[in-house]
Amino acid sequence: MDLRESYSRICTWRVTLTFATLCVLEDFLFFPHMVVRGYGVAKVIKSGYEELKEGEYVWGITSWEDFSWNFYPQQLLIKINITHDVPLSYYAGILGMSGLAAYVGWNEICCPKQGEIVYVSSGAGGVGHLVGQFAKMMGCYVVGSASTNQKVDLLKTELGFDDAFNYKEGDLRSKLNKYFPKGIDIYFDNVGGEMLDEVMLKMNINGRIAASGMISQFHGTDYKEKYPEYAEWAVKKLQEKKLVYVEDVITGLENVVSAFVGIYKGHNIGKRIVVVAEE
Ligand SMILES: NC(=O)c1ccc[n+]([C@@H]2O[C@H](COP(=O)([O-])OP(=O)(O)OC[C@H]3O[C@@H](n4cnc5c(N)ncnc54)[C@H](OP(=O)(O)O)[C@@H]3O)[C@@H](O)[C@H]2O)c1
Repeated sequence: MDLRESYSRICTWRVTLTFATLCVLEDFLFFPHMVVRGYGVAKVIKSGYEELKEGEYVWGITSWEDFSWNFYPQQLLIKINITHDVPLSYYAGILGMSGLAAYVGWNEICCPKQGEIVYVSSGAGGVGHLVGQFAKMMGCYVVGSASTNQKVDLLKTELGFDDAFNYKEGDLRSKLNKYFPKGIDIYFDNVGGEMLDEVMLKMNINGRIAASGMISQFHGTDYKEKYPEYAEWAVKKLQEKKLVYVEDVITGLENVVSAFVGIYKGHNIGKRIVVVAEE
């Protein structure tokens, strides 16, 4: 095929901000002056592929810019099923990579069983607030942590976690001893570092740890295959109001860098996205 016909040109709609962006940079090799890539929602404005038509929406790997060329749409983009009747922005979060990572990580990596004790770090983050709710649906006992009391309240009141704590207040080891007197069966790790070191000491025999940061790196075929099943399930749960999705929306491409830096300071509550264009 002629290379000039094999591209799709897309207009960026929503940019999703996550640590996964860094993984994507590593995967794709990043050089100074290159445009930053990450997960987002976009509208097709010209296409060399039959499967993608002008005016259709996609989610997947997009760039931090208004308009992009995408030379690998089959590998990098997934067409959005607009019959789902949910906001388009959801495909930059719960119905995009964050949701899929939470779903696959929880079901495939954690292999959960009813009644197990679960700990979710960064419980109020884009992935964490979904994992906690998935765990509750399965009948687990779920504790989350976050860096502010506002987030801790959200976990306990709006999102149905059994308990939550502010990991910035006091000594980490005593906190874990207090909230997990019977140990931890499943740790959904969104942060690594010192928290992971301390949690290892509390893990029960046959416990499982999902290293969420690593999950972000397997956006291959196995992962994509799960998407239709997950999307149908998640849309149904949202419509039945059995799943709460928290979005942290920032407007303007010019704010994308400060918005991204903010997640390293815990400024986001739920999934942080940046709106690049409105219809
Ligand atoms: N979103 C995706 O598409 C995706 C996919 C696969 C895997 N992942 C992985 O899942 C993890 C969470 O991603 P996310 O999108 O849900 O991000 P997020 O939780 O929405 O945002 C990051 C949160 O991590 C906490 N944090 C920041 N710096 C920290 C530090 N130094 N130590 C401890 N906690 C810190 C902050 O919350 P606190 O208030 O808790 O401090 C911050 O709000 C990442 O490791 C990411 O690579 C994400």
